[in-house]
Amino acid sequence: MVLELLGTGISGLDELLKGGIRKTNSVLIAGVPGAGKTVFGMHYIYEGAQRGEPGLFISYEESELSIVEYAESFSMPYTQLIQKGLVTVLSIPLIGKIVTFAPIVDMIRKNKIQRVFLDSITLFEFMDSMSAMSFRREIIEFIRIMKEMGVTLMASSEKKIANIDVIEYGAQDFLFQGLILLTKVRKGASFERCINISKMRGQSHQLGIYPFAIDERGVQVYAQQLPFSLIERGDL
Ligand SMILES: Nc1ncnc2c1ncn2[C@@H]1O[C@H](COP(=O)(O)OP(=O)(O)OP(=O)(O)O)[C@@H](O)[C@H]1O
Ligand SMILES: [Mg+2]
Repeated sequence: MVLELLGTGISGLDELLKGGIRKTNSVLIAGVPGAGKTVFGMHYIYEGAQRGEPGLFISYEESELSIVEYAESFSMPYTQLIQKGLVTVLSIPLIGKIVTFAPIVDMIRKNKIQRVFLDSITLFEFMDSMSAMSFRREIIEFIRIMKEMGVTLMASSEKKIANIDVIEYGAQDFLFQGLILLTKVRKGASFERCINISKMRGQSHQLGIYPFAIDERGVQVYAQQLPFSLIERGDL
């Protein structure tokens, strides 16, 4: 069977993934505040749009305008792609509302969405009851619906610990088929951004820790380099 892989559009990451993400799989991108989760998602949706695969960017944190402006600060022309129907940005306010999947499912149908980026899975904590059981159930249900609709999902998740050696895992890390960790390793008086593909069910991928950078072009993963921070620590 030939694996159908979707490129993420993130320079270097597709190399680590040996092509991309398996079609209709769900991947979690986890990291501390400022780790780069939202920017990764913007690339993922932008790459799809360039390939003619309509994408949906869902945010509960930020307005549609601020998402578009953020993407355009990395020269990803979201306004133009929205006009062409290749990108849809959906901002879901959580205040005083019971959140359901209905508007997301409707939008996927209406705009023939193939890629979804959900920023972030905290959204599920706002669905009906607040118990841990419900959070887990909602995630399972959302992943199932996305798969059924032929969507390849990337979702962000917050981690409180940056140190990859002592990172703690939650229910969500087990429920998604793929898990990508974005961390910061201390290097002297600063930090180095590092990425690790923790798991990617059903496909082969690199297992190392690699450095990456964020600048005005967005994210670049250095798939051929080792993190200097780990070399300095004598870990390599
Ligand atoms: N134009 C830019 N040039 C250089 N670095 C940038 C630029 N824009 C953003 N960054 C870096 O990217 C970081 C934010 O990335 P991003 O918004 O993806 O983080 P996040 O993981 O989504 O954070 P949060 O959990 O707070 O939403 C900033 O803190 C900054 O360090
Ligand atoms: Mg973010």
